[in-house]
Amino acid sequence: MRIVLIAIVGIVAGCSKPQVEKQSPLPEKQITEFKEDARVVLPDGTAKELVVANCVHCHSYKLVTQNSATREGWKSMVVWMQETQGLWPLGPAEDQILDYLAEHFAPKNAGRRPPLTDVEWYDLE
Ligand code: HEC
Repeated sequence: MRIVLIAIVGIVAGCSKPQVEKQSPLPEKQITEFKEDARVVLPDGTAKELVVANCVHCHSYKLVTQNSATREGWKSMVVWMQETQGLWPLGPAEDQILDYLAEHFAPKNAGRRPPLTDVEWYDLE
């Protein structure tokens, strides 16, 4: 009887936890810190909270902000994390998250500053 009770309590406790915690290797305290930091740092936008909710469970927001990619590039990173790192399906949030990432963390212009124009050259003497 006691064993049955323990099993039931265990199952109920296990199921009531959000799915995400199970899939993250990080302690809850660390995740909370990452979320607080992410809220301060991430640019405002409609999907900001979705990114906070889904993208800082396993690593810092810095991995997000240090990267830049096209929408397709972000999509392939998401797929890679889903296939190999235990990222859960993002469902209807995925489109919004990808739009947000592609807008705010787009590929940086390659190369250096644009060439100078309207330069007043002078002769060296
Ligand atoms: C279930 C855990 C998990 C979640 C949730 C997660 N990631 Fe990751 N992500 C990882 C792991 C693990 C790595 C590899 C970290 C490393 O190399 O140290 C990674 C790496 C990355 C990288 C670096 C990829 C590269 O090619 O260098 C980016 C960018 C990234 N994640 C963005 C995101 C975004 C955006 C989300 C939300 C949609 C997200 N992550 C959610 C686990 C996760």
